[in-house]
Amino acid sequence: NVFKTSEEASKFVARQVADLIKSRQASNKHCVLGLATGSTPTRVYAELVNMHKSEGLSFRNVYTFNLDEYYPMQPDSLQSYVRFMNEHLFNHIDIPKQNIHIPDGTLSKDKVADFCREYENKIDQLGGIDIQILGIGRTGHIGFNEPGSSEKSLTRLVTLDQVTRIDAASDFFGEENVPRKAITMGVGSIMKARKVFMMAWGEGKASVIKKAVEGPITDHIPSSFLQKHADCLVVLDEASSSEL
Ligand code: GLP
Repeated sequence: NVFKTSEEASKFVARQVADLIKSRQASNKHCVLGLATGSTPTRVYAELVNMHKSEGLSFRNVYTFNLDEYYPMQPDSLQSYVRFMNEHLFNHIDIPKQNIHIPDGTLSKDKVADFCREYENKIDQLGGIDIQILGIGRTGHIGFNEPGSSEKSLTRLVTLDQVTRIDAASDFFGEENVPRKAITMGVGSIMKARKVFMMAWGEGKASVIKKAVEGPITDHIPSSFLQKHADCLVVLDEASSSEL
């Protein structure tokens, strides 16, 4: 779907999420959202906050799993995804704290593998992800699944690509301060979601969107695996769709 502006596109995605939440509420059921960070989804979160405040949209029946977190990372750090999610979404809605899941950047190395396994188990125990929100990195990554990530990969500790670290440099006041690693849900974890919205805005994403959508399915562009997903909608503004 190509929208004129990222604002219209974000409203569309937020509406889909709200509709799912409400339809589950109507039958007293929960829903599970897979959430992303970065600049791309911020407007979707703002719209959801707006719907909470103006329409009384409740998140009491919602469970969330964030895609990724830098490693190591303290939750109160400026750059942590915990802080990002609190500021953009969780502090402004009525989601129960215990329903929120974000990969833990404070774990010692020997605890990471167990944590990742448990993260996958929790998603499965709740019935799997209903809607997965995604942005896309310049390397073609989804979450922090950099080039070379396999289609079946699950939540794990990964090494960040140089391009990704350069893109994050301004957030960390210099590339040398960007963590070299992250914990991310895998391509396989993302592929298990029932519905995926992959969003991209602006000219800077046009070339990677072309590769992800029209290029060969390859681990060089991990987002290209989504071509095989049964229900993935790529949501773009005009600028990011300009090379299609
Ligand atoms: C980071 C996040 C990704 C996100 C990407 C793009 O790498 N881990 O989940 O999709 O940034 O960021 P932006 O939306 O700011 O372009």
